[in-house]
Amino acid sequence: MKHQSTLQQTVADLVDAHRGILAADESHPTMAKRFQPIGVEPSEETRRAWRSLLVTTPGLGQYISGIILFEETLEQKTADGTPIAEAAWAQNIVPGIKVDKGKIPLALSPGDLITQGLDGLAERLQTYQAQGARFAKWREVYAIEATAPSRHGIEANAEMLARYAAVCQAQGIVPIVEPEVLMDGSHDIDRHAEVTERVLHAVFHALHRHGVCLELMLLKPNMVLPGKACRRAPADEVAAATLKVLRHTVPAAVPSIHFLSGGQEPEEATANLNAINQQRGNAPWQLSISYGRALQQPALQAWNGQAEKVAAAQQALLKRARLNSLARAGNYAVAMEREE
Ligand code: 13P
Repeated sequence: MKHQSTLQQTVADLVDAHRGILAADESHPTMAKRFQPIGVEPSEETRRAWRSLLVTTPGLGQYISGIILFEETLEQKTADGTPIAEAAWAQNIVPGIKVDKGKIPLALSPGDLITQGLDGLAERLQTYQAQGARFAKWREVYAIEATAPSRHGIEANAEMLARYAAVCQAQGIVPIVEPEVLMDGSHDIDRHAEVTERVLHAVFHALHRHGVCLELMLLKPNMVLPGKACRRAPADEVAAATLKVLRHTVPAAVPSIHFLSGGQEPEEATANLNAINQQRGNAPWQLSISYGRALQQPALQAWNGQAEKVAAAQQALLKRARLNSLARAGNYAVAMEREE
């Protein structure tokens, strides 16, 4: 492969036994949704202030190896004029970029969704690379309904992920492949497991068809959970169900699995990661995070858009990053939440 050594270096920079990836790549509407409860007006300037706060958190690089940014952020600077991507590098954090253009309904297929954004992707990746990005993310979304996702919906989504990943590798950008089976709804954990297993099988078949090198990509899946409308499952149950599906579907060549948080509460997402690593046995991959909400939510609440709260917000982020790092080794305990 043309860019093999570049890709290998990026994987080596992103993957280790202690750190995870921070997802800070919310689209404008999603960022507005996150700002709304804390009364922050969404604008280019408030988004810049928020992402600068995240990336300049002192010590973040101890626990975070990569940050996924949104297109706009790659052009923004921190208060002292440093490009945000450069500020990430300064902390030993690799900047990445979300490259998909969001989901739409899959035509003629009620309940199925499909993600757009392949047109011109290679050229866009060259621009992002010049701005400092070394890896990318693309998310396909699967909602669980009585008859969805359908078989051809799952196939169509897998094809998109594989085409995206192939374009990335051809350009020297490490792809994060993100198939997210949503936890919205009233399905039980077995149904979530069944759908996640079908989805991951299809994704790895498609990656194989498209010649994607598994050693040079990262997987960002959901954990296996009961629907949000059901009672919460204990962490050891989530861990067992999640590991079972991953063992059935994810080849050992994939270096690292980075879970999304998907609407879990921050402490719940950390406890589940901890249980997964306690039960990992001889699993061949690193089992890490690429959380958005579960890392950012407490920090957002501490910040409230106020300049004098920046340090408190950064402390809240660092705490979640540190506890998730402990959970990577199965060394997290709920009591740590109460410690200073
Ligand atoms: P959450 O952890 O908030 O689900 O976000 C991760 C992400 O990047 C979704 O695409």
